[in-house]
Amino acid sequence: MPQHDSPQSLIDLGKRYWLPVYKPRDVVLDHGKGARVWDAEGRDFIDLGAGIAVNALGHGEPDLLVALTTQAGKLWHASNVFWTEPPLRLAEELVQASGFAERVFLCNSGAEANEAAIKLVRKWAAAQGRAPERRVIVTFKGSFHGRTLATVTATAQPKYQEGYEPLPGGFRYLDFNDAAALEAAFAAGDVAAVMLEPVQGEGGVVPAAPGFLQRVRELCDAHGALLVLDEIQCGMGRTGALFAHTHDHVQPDIVTLAKALGCGFPIGAMLAGAKVAEVMQYGAHGTTFGGNPMAAAVARVALRKLGSTEVLANVARQADALRAGLARINGELQLFDEVRGRGLMIGAVLNAANKGKAGEILDHAAAHGLLLLQAGPDVLRFVPPLTISDEELAEGLQRLRRALIAYAGI
Ligand SMILES: Cc1ncc(COP(=O)(O)O)c(C=O)c1O
Repeated sequence: MPQHDSPQSLIDLGKRYWLPVYKPRDVVLDHGKGARVWDAEGRDFIDLGAGIAVNALGHGEPDLLVALTTQAGKLWHASNVFWTEPPLRLAEELVQASGFAERVFLCNSGAEANEAAIKLVRKWAAAQGRAPERRVIVTFKGSFHGRTLATVTATAQPKYQEGYEPLPGGFRYLDFNDAAALEAAFAAGDVAAVMLEPVQGEGGVVPAAPGFLQRVRELCDAHGALLVLDEIQCGMGRTGALFAHTHDHVQPDIVTLAKALGCGFPIGAMLAGAKVAEVMQYGAHGTTFGGNPMAAAVARVALRKLGSTEVLANVARQADALRAGLARINGELQLFDEVRGRGLMIGAVLNAANKGKAGEILDHAAAHGLLLLQAGPDVLRFVPPLTISDEELAEGLQRLRRALIAYAGI
């Protein structure tokens, strides 16, 4: 990159050459440390979005850097026709940390992990002699499971599906947290699995209602179906436990991970429990980059640190501070109907007077040195690094208050 390129000329490259499927804010980020990021002109931002719940250990984490650079100096890639040590160790560590899984499939993204889960459900159902029309996967409205053709079909939000028809069959959508509807859906006798996020992320930061996951597990058991949990956004410590479902004391059959598993280095994983661990045999599935040694070396450190009592205690501490800060701001400005979520996955739901304005608020946030996300047009989403400090969070809340005052025109 020539030194004289201005941020605007870089942004112009994106506008000229990228498939215009994204709409980034006009900020060119350059480097980061902890929960702070600097743009190409040296302006600093407090990062309460963490690259969409990815940079869970913050930016520039020294142990991740050592893991990555050490492995980068040894071997970048081997494919799955030879063994390398980091993915072997990572698989063992994921199984041990999970408390339910027996085997792991490593891949490169959330969608790919969910795609593997969907295929595993079908393979399992096929192995049981279930006809294709009896391999239905139930998912929930407001869910988000990815952008491949199968995962976008699992994603029960029409806006992500429009124009991509014909969509693959075999999915049925229900209202989230509606146990009665799920019971009725099982009556057809064709449900092979229920797939859900313990806390819906993109759909508005909506936690499963108390007791819902347990009820889903009971119904799956009663009807011989699998429970698949998408913990791509809510897993890896974000809710205050390494795995979000442990709050609900349920044992899933399949769990998918990505995002914070690599803390910014692309990696995904599908964890398979006892019922399904032996279903896919040689040749049944694969991916060239899955188990990449650099990704796995980073993920091993991420897993160890994100599961530590120190990080999980910080999640609880900062979640309280963030909720208290949002309550204070709302007491003053009255913008939110509700603040919901779990741990450091928090959604502030805009009230009727401010519905649809999340994007506009995010523009003000960026102008005030704050990186923030939305979850749909009506919800501000807070998913900061799990290691965010008291000082960084306090600064972020101050900037948020100023941004909201500017938005409200006060
Ligand atoms: C819950 C959930 N599942 C799946 C995905 C898809 O992950 P990826 O974008 O890595 O394919 C996401 C991404 O936001 C997610 O939040």
